Amino acid sequence: MAYRSFRKFLDALDEAGELKRVALPVDTDLLIAEWADREMKSPGGGKALLFEQPIVDGKKSEFPVAINTMGSRRRIALALQVADVGDVAQEIQLILKAKPPTDLREGWSLLKQGIHLLHARPKHVKEGACQEVVHEIGERPTPNEITLSDLPIIKCWPKDGGRFITLPNVHTRDPETGARNVGIYRMQIYDERTTGMHWQIQKVGARHGKRYYERGERMPVAVTLGGDPIYTFAATAPLPDGLDELLFAGFLRRKSIELVRCKTIDVDVPADVDFVLEGYVQPGEMRPEGPFGDHTGFYTAIEDYPVFHLTAITHRRDAVYPATIVGIPPMEDYYIGDACVRIFLPVFKMNFPEIVDMTLPPEGVFHNLVFVSIRKQYPYQAFKVMHGLWGMGQMMFSKYIVAVDEDCDVHNTSEVLFRLCANTDPARDTTIIKNPSDSLDHAPTNQNVGSHMGFDATRKLPGENYHRPWPELLKMTEEAQALVDALQAQMR
Ligand SMILES: Cc1cc2nc3c(=O)[nH]c(=O)nc-3n(C[C@H](O)[C@H](O)[C@H](O)COP(=O)(O)O)c2cc1C
Repeated sequence: MAYRSFRKFLDALDEAGELKRVALPVDTDLLIAEWADREMKSPGGGKALLFEQPIVDGKKSEFPVAINTMGSRRRIALALQVADVGDVAQEIQLILKAKPPTDLREGWSLLKQGIHLLHARPKHVKEGACQEVVHEIGERPTPNEITLSDLPIIKCWPKDGGRFITLPNVHTRDPETGARNVGIYRMQIYDERTTGMHWQIQKVGARHGKRYYERGERMPVAVTLGGDPIYTFAATAPLPDGLDELLFAGFLRRKSIELVRCKTIDVDVPADVDFVLEGYVQPGEMRPEGPFGDHTGFYTAIEDYPVFHLTAITHRRDAVYPATIVGIPPMEDYYIGDACVRIFLPVFKMNFPEIVDMTLPPEGVFHNLVFVSIRKQYPYQAFKVMHGLWGMGQMMFSKYIVAVDEDCDVHNTSEVLFRLCANTDPARDTTIIKNPSDSLDHAPTNQNVGSHMGFDATRKLPGENYHRPWPELLKMTEEAQALVDALQAQMR
């Protein structure tokens, strides 16, 4: 069953031995971040942390802080409520292959899948736990007003421009089609009622914003924090523009999401989240944002971004504030990205049936490095796959793609590097293209554009400008392996 609240998810982590509670008072200024960084860098991603007494400006916050809640393969599986993320991929593969049933058994199984999809559609309710406490923000601050300074928002790195909300689910709507979008875009705190809105130019939130700016209309924006962790996962997933994240989240958790209307803006949000920040973005208003210690492991420089103005904060009575930090890998975001790749592998395979497996290793911080294994049948097929990936959604940012043969395990970086070094002649087996670059990448000469490189580390076929017999890879006989296994067992 779906988690009815973020706390229920934390209880599940606790029961599974995946949560450490920190009862000591810990400052939200750098100390929670330092503690979390140590945990994220421990083997397998460490544990989730619940800081029960976060300190903000010398005062204990009313709300605890949970961090690193999805920072391991086990915790991601718990968040998605599956034994393994591969199970979701299998389900997606089934749906993609769906065709009219040819017999009753197949008919039942398709029906079952259909029901899951029907359950996925969000539905509207009148009341939600996220509005148990409502603070509308007036034109002028009042003495007892709850504002952003009452939330335990963390400062992550010493030279950050301030405190940042790091796991905000930003809900926007296309003013023309009404299509909803949810994305995670960090928010820098400027004061008690104003923040930055860091949607990069290629993201859907920015596209929605542009539509409002063109119409000269104020853009309503709702930011949710917490609730079922599936919302946060769906918000980070690189879904195609127009595919509703909340529908996808409903499909993942097999239960439709209940939506409640915000109090001060015309936006619907999941009724069970912990906090809702209601507000708006004013067309044309930009403000310097950053610096921020980023996914890349470096500080991102100050740049102008839109500004979010708060009109209300609503929350659960027992709300927990969710956070993450990003930085030199491995961090929590690696596990989120890794799960996305594994879940969407069937979609890649549908477009490129020769793809066997694919991964974005942690050292590449999402977009910098892709390993893909293929079943190669014809010359230059590896280059065809690379160009295809560079044209697919956020895969456009992939700086280096290494293609290997199907018998190479892409999850074993050492094996991939061995194939790369052994199987390539750089002049013959590489290609360099021009493409949009990740806004956060500091290496290109100009921001947002750059070059990407592909390496064909597969064995060469006739027609690939290799004029000698391709040598055979060393492999021991199965018989010799079995005999040595048996001998070694005797010695134990
Ligand atoms: C922890 C975390 C923080 C992120 N911060 C940002 C951000 O500040 N700006 C941004 O454009 N994308 C950020 N992303 C990536 C987007 O959430 C991701 O690209 C998502 O697919 C965007 O959704 P959209 O395609 O609906 O715009 C972040 C991802 C994670 C996991």
